[in-house]
Amino acid sequence: MNLAGVEVVEKTVSAEEEKGLMLDGGFVVPLTNSFGHTFRSLLPSPVTVLILFLNWATVAGFPSLGLDLIVAQDSDARRRKGTAKSRWCGDNVTRENNGDNMVKRMREEYGKLNRLEMSIWECCELLNDVIDESDPDLDEPQIEHLLQTAEAIRKDYPNEDWLHLTGLIHDLGKVLHHPAFGELPQWAVVGDTFPVGCAFDESVVHHKYFKENPDFTNPTFNTKYGVYSEGCGLDNVMMSWGHDDYMYLVAKENKTTLPSAGLFIIRYHSFYAMHKAGAYKHLMNEEDMDNLKWLKIFNKYDLYSKSKVRIDVEKVKPYYLSLIEKYFPTKLRW
Ligand SMILES: [Fe+2]
Ligand SMILES: [Fe+2]
Repeated sequence: MNLAGVEVVEKTVSAEEEKGLMLDGGFVVPLTNSFGHTFRSLLPSPVTVLILFLNWATVAGFPSLGLDLIVAQDSDARRRKGTAKSRWCGDNVTRENNGDNMVKRMREEYGKLNRLEMSIWECCELLNDVIDESDPDLDEPQIEHLLQTAEAIRKDYPNEDWLHLTGLIHDLGKVLHHPAFGELPQWAVVGDTFPVGCAFDESVVHHKYFKENPDFTNPTFNTKYGVYSEGCGLDNVMMSWGHDDYMYLVAKENKTTLPSAGLFIIRYHSFYAMHKAGAYKHLMNEEDMDNLKWLKIFNKYDLYSKSKVRIDVEKVKPYYLSLIEKYFPTKLRW
């Protein structure tokens, strides 16, 4: 495809390299966590069940029940529990709750961008305080993942500086986990995303849990097109709430000059039903189809490597600061 006059040739990742990699937001479940515990040994305690309920209550619209107690959760305790908790509880809760109503409320609330003012780089540093329980590399600071993604792209596509920066910022929406952003629960921040306002495609992972979602039986939303029309463009489609849509809102509202392919990658990188399974094409327009080619390229780099490439943050920082300056204002509203 062609962007800014550049012909893009898709680079391939060797089978050997791919074996050691896991996709961000995917559902690769290790048999044991990093402490050698099996998932059976991590079945929920009554306290965990209470916390999950309060998390749910907060996002489902009963904030008085939840938030104060949620922020009292000890981050270290969550880190010790590792990836297991979010894997067994997150996906069904997301499917049951993340519908038209919730998305509208979250977009309205977080679209105010009245929580913090900070630069892109400051947000990268803030994200280091956030534990992403869906991240298989829990010991690794988030900034390492961001820079590994960006640097790997830079190596193979040296002229696409916008794609390097997209790699750096694509997960910044995970600051929604941070107390300054209400410390949203795992299921409302990470995991696969999907359109709301039309029928949930069967290719969306854990589709069976949608039966508990009120939109599933609502005749306005449960048809192929729902509230949308053929080829309306994904820009006009509401996506389930998560770090992708939030970062897209932040970038757009702060008037980034990234090309539309960059914004497309940010908003849809967890939309696996579309970019892996090829679903929802009937809602896409020509620009979406063009941008999809870039997203497929990007996704090969949005990886967690088991054989970690350590990045010297201070060494690469000046390059990324220059890109931030090129594509973003000095301070952004979040
Ligand atoms: Fe990522
Ligand atoms: Fe992500």
